[in-house]
Amino acid sequence: MQKKNKLYSAVITGVGMYVPEKVLDNKYFESILDTNDEWIRTRTGISERRVLEEGGTSVLATKAVEDLLKSTNTDPLDVDVIIIATITPDMAFPATAALVQDNIGAKNAWGYDLSAACSGFLFAMQSGTSLIESGQYKKVVVVGAEKMSSILDYTDRNTCLLFGDGAAAVLLEPSEDLNIGVQDSILRTDGSGKDALFMKAGGSLHPASHETVDNREHFVYQDGKAVFKVAVKGMADISVEIMEKNGLKSEDIAYLVPHQANLRIIDATAKRMGIPPEKVTINIAKYGNTTAATIPLCLAEYYRDGKFKKGDNLILAAFGAGYTWGSMHIVWGID
Ligand code: UT7
Repeated sequence: MQKKNKLYSAVITGVGMYVPEKVLDNKYFESILDTNDEWIRTRTGISERRVLEEGGTSVLATKAVEDLLKSTNTDPLDVDVIIIATITPDMAFPATAALVQDNIGAKNAWGYDLSAACSGFLFAMQSGTSLIESGQYKKVVVVGAEKMSSILDYTDRNTCLLFGDGAAAVLLEPSEDLNIGVQDSILRTDGSGKDALFMKAGGSLHPASHETVDNREHFVYQDGKAVFKVAVKGMADISVEIMEKNGLKSEDIAYLVPHQANLRIIDATAKRMGIPPEKVTINIAKYGNTTAATIPLCLAEYYRDGKFKKGDNLILAAFGAGYTWGSMHIVWGID
């Protein structure tokens, strides 16, 4: 992204979020699986996660967007585009974005879903940024929303206790001040990682059948150890790369906003960047891994906690299924 070649910068002008009320704590998993609170906390950093009991991802996304519109005093009729990053859409089609558009009455908007797993929010932010920078759109809502509980095998201790449900959204608007907003991003996809983290059935390759259900193929499969290794390197490398590319030193960065898959991956990334723990947004203990929703949930909570100031340099970073990974440099634009 060349700053000087654009007329507008895409600035986050508001945040919204929703997490369902029902909490599953580590004790619950002790009661259903061969695991324990100590292992989960020390190996992952997770203490609890939320679960949506009724409805699909569109329920979570709608509530997060309603919160966003209310807190920014935005008329739904003024929304131009809704982009929803999710791997747990309500259904294959129509897009969850269409369901949310209807729920909120955004009668002038178009929208679409974007599938990039844990990097989904970064990829969606880049899409939204391009729409704003083009000058064609003025209000783009970017959402990360997941009902991960709908694709988890609650008999598999390797996966089910890692993930949770939640949604968060940001509003992107144009600014002629090019020194605030999204400054740069580095995004990557490497499909050779497809065998380490996937959901086998339910798509066109293995449509739902008695066999796919009997074989428990409609759930997340993860080779945790393999993903851990590439995630640590991938997220750290791409975060350092964006710092160097933009001439940022550790002390220039107000916050690292990392994807929340495992506290050990977050710590390793921060360490490589030379960023102290107090400058890293962390809420994995409360929500677990909400896939596309982790980064916007961090943005929403830390902003509302008064942690971000206008002009702050933030580095967003993610790694996930695909593989997909990326980093984004944002200068916070709200007072
Ligand atoms: O967000 C998308 C990208 N995903 C990620 O970034 C996740 C990356 N992977 C991870 O976060 C970690 O690999 C896990 C948290 C999934 C697993 O942690 P680990 O340190 O890699 O554990 P492991 O699979 O190497 O297992 C270590 C030990 C094993 O026992 P032995 O063989 O050492 O006796 C496992 O059987 O821990 C055992 N174990 C468990 N024990 C209690 C594995 N799962 C559990 C469990 N409770 N739930």
